[in-house]
Amino acid sequence: MKSLQFKNKDLMPILGLGTWKLKTEEIYKTVRESINIGYRHFDCAFIYMNEKEIGSALKDAIDAGDVKREDLWITSKLWNSEHEKNVVVSALQRRLDDFGLDYLDLYLIHWPVATKRNVVFAREGSDFLNLEEIRLADTWAAMESCIEKGMTRHIGVSNFSIKKLTELLADCKIKPEVNQIELHPLFQHKKMLNYCSKKGMYITAYSPLGSRDRTPEMKATNEPDMFENPMVILMAEKYNCTPAQFLIAWAVNRGTAVIPKSTNPERLKLNFAATEIKISKKDLQQMESVNKHFRYVTGAFFEMSGSPYTVKNLWDE
Ligand code: A2P
Repeated sequence: MKSLQFKNKDLMPILGLGTWKLKTEEIYKTVRESINIGYRHFDCAFIYMNEKEIGSALKDAIDAGDVKREDLWITSKLWNSEHEKNVVVSALQRRLDDFGLDYLDLYLIHWPVATKRNVVFAREGSDFLNLEEIRLADTWAAMESCIEKGMTRHIGVSNFSIKKLTELLADCKIKPEVNQIELHPLFQHKKMLNYCSKKGMYITAYSPLGSRDRTPEMKATNEPDMFENPMVILMAEKYNCTPAQFLIAWAVNRGTAVIPKSTNPERLKLNFAATEIKISKKDLQQMESVNKHFRYVTGAFFEMSGSPYTVKNLWDE
């Protein structure tokens, strides 16, 4: 399995198991199965509401001798209600307690969006705090202290635009090492890839398969299905793989980490094997024609009457 190497020589396996939408009853089997297949990277978050269950499956795998803690890469994310600088450290401690771990490998600010402390899901505009009231730079300073306390080995962000990254880089002690964003052939983020590569940051691609298992309220009507995209089908035939495998290989061949979610043992294996597929430069170039600037996860759930957040100012587009 390829890895991305950090400045301190830590290695993040390029493929991780996405755990968003992994249901409580599916977790144990899926985590144990994926470890047996060879998965070592698990992408988690408080808001996926399943970290305790993931932690107990990891513990059993470690106790059974299937894997060592030091060979695992565990990512989690600070939720919107935890941005206050004096809350960040205790929130991470709760996360570690849930997992039953002493440290995380990577901890990310999940969204550049803040809500009041006890509001997990914002229902009305007044549930939010704007980014002048609660500055990302202050939240970041508390993230830095999580490194200093040894609670996580690396820190980064998720869903950050180039503008927000630039502001953060101008006002930090420890640079973010990862930006996790939605990334697939329908939204190729070429500028972001160039920007992050110049700044020495890695990108993790979420929803690489289009997250077709989102709940109906998180889906728009007539969303494009990447498995049906003619170019993806053509390429999958050329590389003798499934469309899903081609999508994973596309991400890996562009040097991004990728975190497809599956609960199906056969698909877990197919996704793992996809990291070995080499795509030619010419075909990567040809794939650029598929780009549509299309997001499955638009962030529209933060846009409501009285909310300081709009889809436009979220992505700075
Ligand atoms: P399942 O869990 O039944 O395998 P994303 O990673 O973009 O969030 O997408 C996850 C969705 O893609 C899930 O519905 C998952 O279903 C499906 N999926 C994962 N791997 C494959 C695959 N190799 N072929 C087809 N569908 C897949």
